[in-house]
Amino acid sequence: MGVGQRARFRPRAAVLLSPALWAAAAAPWLAWSLSAHEAITTELTWTRNVSRIFYSRCAACHRDGGSAPMPLTTYAQVRPWAKAIKHEVLTRRMPPWGAVKGFGAFRNDASLSLPEIAVISSWVEGGAPEGDALFLEPFHDHGHGRDSQAPEAGRRTVRGSVLLDREVVATGVSPERPQGGGWLQLTAHLPDGRVEHMIWLREPNPVLELDYWFLRPIRLPPGTRLLCRPDSASVELRFLGGSVAGP
Ligand code: HEC
Repeated sequence: MGVGQRARFRPRAAVLLSPALWAAAAAPWLAWSLSAHEAITTELTWTRNVSRIFYSRCAACHRDGGSAPMPLTTYAQVRPWAKAIKHEVLTRRMPPWGAVKGFGAFRNDASLSLPEIAVISSWVEGGAPEGDALFLEPFHDHGHGRDSQAPEAGRRTVRGSVLLDREVVATGVSPERPQGGGWLQLTAHLPDGRVEHMIWLREPNPVLELDYWFLRPIRLPPGTRLLCRPDSASVELRFLGGSVAGP
């Protein structure tokens, strides 16, 4: 009993004697600023790990004169947004992409990989340190950084169920604008029973005028049934002109 009481008493005495605590009690603004400076608990830094991801994944829009409201290309610009950035990348709101991962595969996929999300969110959780300037690669503004080169492609609107009477080599999808309110899913049911998951858009993205280009062209033989759901939705299928020998 006695030992326990002594053990409990000692740390309290130490805290009471701490000059930092007295100063904090005397000046509330100091207490606030102490708690605002979180301890650094991560090895990840802006200069070494995080800046590269931002240059390639965010700066196309978040740069001076870009389409996003604020630039995110320097530590000073990014640091005040750290908490919001973590939230945006964990919820996959940023970078805006809209297509559900794993349903179709796209060569202009703008979304972050899971390791990239882990680096950004652990960095923010660990206090978002800047790191040594030695490692910083300066940002080079190459203008619009995204893959905006679209392959030559025909268009055909798909609504509800469409039966193909000739071969089509599908190269991508352009959501119709305006897209209405909700989600959209396009699947192709091949005559041999296979189902191609082409795209699943969670919600229309009012910010973006995006086309989704398949990682590889998808060859759809005659007799394939395209299904666009829900019935009220429609989408433009992009395809190579005419009949083309498959890969
Ligand atoms: C295609 C353009 C584009 C890309 C790429 C992009 N953003 Fe954004 N971002 C926007 C636009 C536009 C807004 C403002 C409208 C909105 O919030 O939706 C925004 C808003 C934000 C906000 C503010 C959200 C809030 O709390 O109001 C954060 C934080 C953010 N982006 C972080 C990022 C990060 C981090 C990346 C890269 C990993 C990124 N963005 C990539 C266009 C983009």
